[in-house]
Amino acid sequence: MSSEWYTASAPGKFVVLGEHSVVYGKPAVVLATDRRITCSVRRSKRNTINGDLVDLSRQPHFTYLTRDVGYNMDFLTTSEVPSGSGMGSSAALSAALALAIRSERGECPTEKMLVDEAYGAELYAQGNGSPMDASACVHGGGIAVNVPSEKKELWTISRGERTWRVTDVDVPDLSFVIGNTGIKAPTGPQVEKIRRYKMKNGFASEIIDEMGDVTLEGFDALKKKDKEKLGRLMTNDHKLLSILGVSCNELNKLVNASLPYSYGAKLTGSGGGGCMVALTDKPEKVAEVISSRGGIPYIIKSGSEGARMETSPAMGTPMEIPMGKGE
Ligand code: MEV
Repeated sequence: MSSEWYTASAPGKFVVLGEHSVVYGKPAVVLATDRRITCSVRRSKRNTINGDLVDLSRQPHFTYLTRDVGYNMDFLTTSEVPSGSGMGSSAALSAALALAIRSERGECPTEKMLVDEAYGAELYAQGNGSPMDASACVHGGGIAVNVPSEKKELWTISRGERTWRVTDVDVPDLSFVIGNTGIKAPTGPQVEKIRRYKMKNGFASEIIDEMGDVTLEGFDALKKKDKEKLGRLMTNDHKLLSILGVSCNELNKLVNASLPYSYGAKLTGSGGGGCMVALTDKPEKVAEVISSRGGIPYIIKSGSEGARMETSPAMGTPMEIPMGKGE
C-alpha cells in the first residue's frame, strides 16, 4: 500500500457584492484572498484527521468527498482562513480536499470537476446555496456570477430552476480590509433564514431584486475603478442585507467604524457574525479602527491563485473541521 502524501491548497475568498441574492440567481462578484487552506491525504489503515482517529460519517465534507474512495485515509488540514467567518473556509477546505483526494487516486481533475466536487460537498454539508464560493476557491483570482456582459465564461451550473454562469474577471487594483467580529456564524442557517423570510413576505423578494441591481451597478464601477461609486454601492448592499436580517450589532459596529476612512463597507459572506469588508485607500487606518472596536483586521491581498498541488505536506495551524450545516 502506497503511503505517499498528496497535498493541495485553495484560497479563501471574500464577496465584494451579491451574497445571499446569488442563491436566487442574482449576480455576484467575489475575489480570492491570500489566506489558504492546505490538505494532505494518504492511504492508511484507519481514518484520521490531524492525527485523531475519526468516524468520517460525522464529517460531512470528508464523507462526501471520499464517497467513492473505498479505503481509509490520513488527512492533515491546516488553515489561515478563520472558520465560520464568511471567508470561505468551507469551500476552500472542499476545493483543497477534492484536489488532494483526486490526485491520490491518480486523476488530474479539471477546474470544473473540482467545482462540481466542492459544490457537492458544500450542499451535502450545508443543505442549500449557490456554487459561488466553490467557484471562487477553485478558480482563484476574481469571478463574477450571472453578469451578462462578461464574456470569459468558466462554467455554468444549474440546480432546480436556478442557473449560475460563472466568468473570470480581472482582479482590480483596489485595497480591501476585512474585519472579523470573531463571532462564528455558519452559512446554512443564514441562507435558511432568508429562504423562510422570502416565502412569507413578498418584500424580501423585492430586496433581493434590488441587491441584484446594486451588484450589477457595483460591478460596472469596479471595472471602471470608480471607487466612490463602488464603495457607496457596497454600503447600500450592507443596508439591504441588514433589512433581510443577516447583519448583527457587531458587524454594524465594524462597518460604521470603517466608513469615515473608507469608500464603503459591508458584511461579507453569510453574515450573522463573521466578517465585514471595507474598500479603502487607508488600509492601516481601517485596520486600526477595526482593532479598536474589538474586531480582528486582515489587510487582504486579493486575487490569489486557485486550487493547486503543493510539494510538501500541510504544516501549520491545524484546521478546525466544520462538523455540518455551514462553514
Ligand atoms: C456565503 O459566502 C455566500 C452565500 O451567498 C451562500 C451561497 O451563495 O451559497 C450567503
